[in-house]
Amino acid sequence: MPEVRLVNVTKRYGKIVANDNISLTIKDGEYVSVIGPSGCGKTTMIKNIAGIIKPDNGEIYIGGKLATDLPIEERGIGYVFQNIALFPHMTVWDNITYGPKVKGLPQEEMRPLALEMLEMIKLGARSDAYPDELSGGTQQKTAVARALMSRAKLLLLDEPLGALDVKVRSELRYELRKLVKDLKLTALHVTHDQEEAMSISDRVIVMKRGSIVEAGAPIDLYSRPKNIFTANFVSEANFLTGIITQITDEGSLVDVGDNLQLMTKSTDKKIGDRVVIAFRPEFASIGDKKMINKLSGTVVEVLYSGSIIRLKVRLANDDLVDVKRTLRFETLMPTISDKVTMTISPNNILVYSYPENLNKELALE
Ligand SMILES: Nc1ncnc2c1ncn2[C@@H]1O[C@H](COP(=O)(O)OP(=O)(O)OP(=O)(O)O)[C@@H](O)[C@H]1O
Ligand SMILES: [Mg+2]
Repeated sequence: MPEVRLVNVTKRYGKIVANDNISLTIKDGEYVSVIGPSGCGKTTMIKNIAGIIKPDNGEIYIGGKLATDLPIEERGIGYVFQNIALFPHMTVWDNITYGPKVKGLPQEEMRPLALEMLEMIKLGARSDAYPDELSGGTQQKTAVARALMSRAKLLLLDEPLGALDVKVRSELRYELRKLVKDLKLTALHVTHDQEEAMSISDRVIVMKRGSIVEAGAPIDLYSRPKNIFTANFVSEANFLTGIITQITDEGSLVDVGDNLQLMTKSTDKKIGDRVVIAFRPEFASIGDKKMINKLSGTVVEVLYSGSIIRLKVRLANDDLVDVKRTLRFETLMPTISDKVTMTISPNNILVYSYPENLNKELALE
């Protein structure tokens, strides 16, 4: 029922265009995340859908019905705000039953509903606790339960796990997805954390400066981003600039300077085209015996972070690339000043037309 459709939605704050002509459909039952740099308009989009603000232009449909002018309480939404906003002087029970009470829901209807919600989020034992007696994770769960008390089928979550430490965050994200799927809700989840978005969602929307840059399944945004900004924002990427020097049936050869040539699978470019190629640090192999797509360089930095080793390698053309490997104690890992040869499979190289302003295109703002 709660399919959401935005048609050319624009919201301005003075000169700032916080949402710039956004069109988007979220399917019934879909779990959609929105990611993008701070200030790109994520909260504005969610507030437009919730009815907290009204767009300057465009229409919003919820469940197929025009909702642009509908009051918040008639939109059938549950909303979890960017900053947890539990009432500090109320217990968990009072927090989650506050909304229904204000709406005048009779006690005999409200009680079983609240008990069910508490049961669902496994908070039954803490219903008498005050927010400051709860961990951050439990506070977040309470905020979700409170949003669901309206029996809303559409859940709008604005950085719901933002304030939590990494471990709790990654546990809660799966609980949240399971809850949404079990209750057959539709969810729109705003987050700063691209890893969270990738692991929780059916589809991820990437925003930049008020607009949607790209939307797609997590795996597609990671492995085949259509947009160079997405390649940079979703996970990590190395970017090299070059010229197409050869076209074959299978792809094209890119010269990235100083005689470094890389075979790619790109077939839509012409000889002489200026391009940007991108590859993920984890897709560069070291010590591979393959003969094609070799890049030689010198290790200039080695960083260990848990199970991962990160190298910065200076290439012959002076570009710096990041390489990420899983740490294995039985293998000798490169150290600073080592000469290394990397190989990158043509399948793992993305090729983009050189944009008008590369730095602006990649900027995370
Ligand atoms: N009430 C307001 N008055 C004026 N400008 C606003 C208002 N709300 C948002 N903005 C501006 O609109 C733009 C988008 O803001 P929004 O809160 O939607 O960003 P966001 O993507 O949610 O950012 P964050 O990740 O930091 O939460 C920003 O430039 C912001 O300063
Ligand atoms: Mg925000």
